[in-house]
Amino acid sequence: MVLRTLQWIVRQEWLLRLLGWLFGPFNPFLESYRRDPHRVYRKLREEDPLYRSRVFQAFVATRYDDVQHVLRSPSFSADRMLTPAFQAMAKRTRRYPQLHALIERNLLMLEGPEHRRLRGLVGKAFTPRRVQELRPRIESLVEELLDEMEKRGDVELIRDFAHPLPINVILEMLGLPAKDRHLFAEWSKPLATLVDPLEAEGGDGSIRQAVEELNAYLRPIIEDRRREPKDDLLTAMLQAEEDGERLDEKDLLALVSLIMVAGHETTTSLISNSVIELLRNPSERKRLTEDPELIESAVDEFVRYAGTVVLTDRVAIEDTELRGKRIKKGQVVICVIAAANRDPEQFEDPERLDLGRENNHHLGFGLGSHFCLGAQLARLETQIALSALLRRFPDFTGPAEPEAWKRSTVLRGPTRLDISVGGPAD
Ligand code: HEM
Repeated sequence: MVLRTLQWIVRQEWLLRLLGWLFGPFNPFLESYRRDPHRVYRKLREEDPLYRSRVFQAFVATRYDDVQHVLRSPSFSADRMLTPAFQAMAKRTRRYPQLHALIERNLLMLEGPEHRRLRGLVGKAFTPRRVQELRPRIESLVEELLDEMEKRGDVELIRDFAHPLPINVILEMLGLPAKDRHLFAEWSKPLATLVDPLEAEGGDGSIRQAVEELNAYLRPIIEDRRREPKDDLLTAMLQAEEDGERLDEKDLLALVSLIMVAGHETTTSLISNSVIELLRNPSERKRLTEDPELIESAVDEFVRYAGTVVLTDRVAIEDTELRGKRIKKGQVVICVIAAANRDPEQFEDPERLDLGRENNHHLGFGLGSHFCLGAQLARLETQIALSALLRRFPDFTGPAEPEAWKRSTVLRGPTRLDISVGGPAD
């Protein structure tokens, strides 16, 4: 009931404005913030880089040094179960063992030896070699999608390209049937709101249902792989062994769900955000079209400049100090990655998109022990997707501003993007 009320409140623009004094300069639920979050980040970074938000009961860090420090420091933990908000949620979800296991065994929230063990096991399966081996398959998937786009001329980039690509790649990598991709797309939507519960709708009923359906779908496939191993990530995760230990079913289900969710929306939005930036920056677009070799630095620049995971958070596990302020044990620091990525103390000319940028030590894939497991895969997919799009349709056109941005405090991406790639050749 409380969750539903909060979910309702964050959708009432008039009420949010009325409560403006309570939110102060950081209100990620406002339409104006979704349209231009960097205006807010700039102000915070310059005027109050470790802002104390009353509404979120948290500090909001926007400078590169501070975000980097918090993500690396042993004084902070990713285990949100240490916060009262998560403890209240856990009390509720304990009644639903499958959902509870997903939250409790989530790699993103584990710390110390448990995190190292799971990360080590999944790392044995999710190897750079396995990612590189996907290259030819990603290339052919991209060409197939672009062939379809060419036939249509006017396309919706997310529906026709940016969404089907990562979901197909993840399924292919895990070894799950591509024909069921619509099911995975349906399950990932509610699961993705786990990182963003206030922006979800309808309480947590739809999340529970998605977890239960996904687990019921995966269990017989896991059993199959145990009996008959294949050359896929699922089999590799089942076989991964460290100090005589293997992943149990609970951990395996939580990992597959996380990989599915983390590896799909994020990459969809990175491709879409990059296309928007190409439309907004014609000279950089020309530079990349004329020099395709720039694609690797270009994609990292898109992650810095128009990244999709805009923030994460950490909990202090002891009293500590940051930027001269005292942070007590149990207090939360929201690390605004997107603000840190445009900090002039770290990046030269940070508000400029520079597709050849060197020494680009952005934080778009996180830092430290929770550094993104799929960074290499996301880079590879986006590099192949953008290179092929520019090669096949160098004159594609579209709006510099999408109709709307996703409602999310964590992920940034457009809800749709209509572009024209030119009609089929007569
Ligand atoms: C553009 C695409 C992506 C972006 C921007 C992104 C960003 C991030 C960030 C910032 C984190 C760290 C979160 C934190 O410290 O709290 C993270 C963690 C993670 N990402 Fe990604 N990610 C992307 C794609 C992927 C893909 C394709 C996969 C898998 C196929 C993936 C799997 C994961 C996993 C499993 C973690 C948790 C790692 C841990 O806690 O040890 N991500 N990602």
